Amino acid sequence: MSTSSNPSSAPTQGRRKVTTKTLLAKKQRGEMITMLTAYDYPTALAEDQAGIDVILVGDSLGMVVLGYQNTLPVTMDEMLHHCRAVARGARTALLIGDMPFMSYQVSIEEAVRNAGRFLQEGGMEAVKLEGGRERIEAVRAITGAGIPVMGHLGLTPQSVNMLGGFKPQGKTAAAAQLLLEDSLSLEQAGCFSLVLESVPAKVAQVISTRLSIPTIGIGAGIGCDGQVLVTHDLLGLFERFTPKFVKKYADFHGEMRRAFTAFIDDIQARSFPGAEHSVEIDETEWREFIAAVGH
Ligand code: KIV
Repeated sequence: MSTSSNPSSAPTQGRRKVTTKTLLAKKQRGEMITMLTAYDYPTALAEDQAGIDVILVGDSLGMVVLGYQNTLPVTMDEMLHHCRAVARGARTALLIGDMPFMSYQVSIEEAVRNAGRFLQEGGMEAVKLEGGRERIEAVRAITGAGIPVMGHLGLTPQSVNMLGGFKPQGKTAAAAQLLLEDSLSLEQAGCFSLVLESVPAKVAQVISTRLSIPTIGIGAGIGCDGQVLVTHDLLGLFERFTPKFVKKYADFHGEMRRAFTAFIDDIQARSFPGAEHSVEIDETEWREFIAAVGH
């Protein structure tokens, strides 16, 4: 681990801080918005230095980092712990905290208070929550408190039990119309952007055209205003399953196994640590020591 310089400053120098207004301007100019999830300091640092627009501390961390079967067990405290680490790594990306299951559904007061915790305790700049018409009051109240809200429609993982599994949404004319209505309602309620997950590309394209706020697609085709992936899927780090819409850019799981196996082999063969990894003692000090204690 190098401690010789501050690696977070140089590569992001000159990049302007991304805000919700930056995203809107990008949509208006027809430029694509990039978003990835991060749950820790080194990943946030690398994504920020690569020039990502938005970092989402997604509740997907429950599955890809904490090993839960779905996102439902994730708590506010778990989310805030990871948000703080991400906030320490990122300089310019817009930081969004994902409101976990039951942090915004019980009452509007709780929704506002928990959204506020993401900013006050987690170092985030906006929150994301799932749902359509049933979330309008919460979105109004949270934005009314000065906290930007990103919506999330289509496959909403916190409703996995209502949806009957992790299935694509909006595949009938009626369902697609409901999605469009919900999107417009969320925009009217004050959302600054909207994630569309696992919906037909043509439907996502229509929604993206009808909305003035940017849509961010995941499994929603090329017609959205931006794209997001779960970073552990993109890196090949989550082995349990890979959704159809994921493009794997690396095989980090395989690379980790290779490195761990090589370490075990080195230890067993006594080929690590070598002289270059060891601390030396001055010859005079060594002789004095041996003279004192013997071999
Ligand atoms: O939790 C998450 O990572 C998400 C993304 C899939 C958008 O909600």
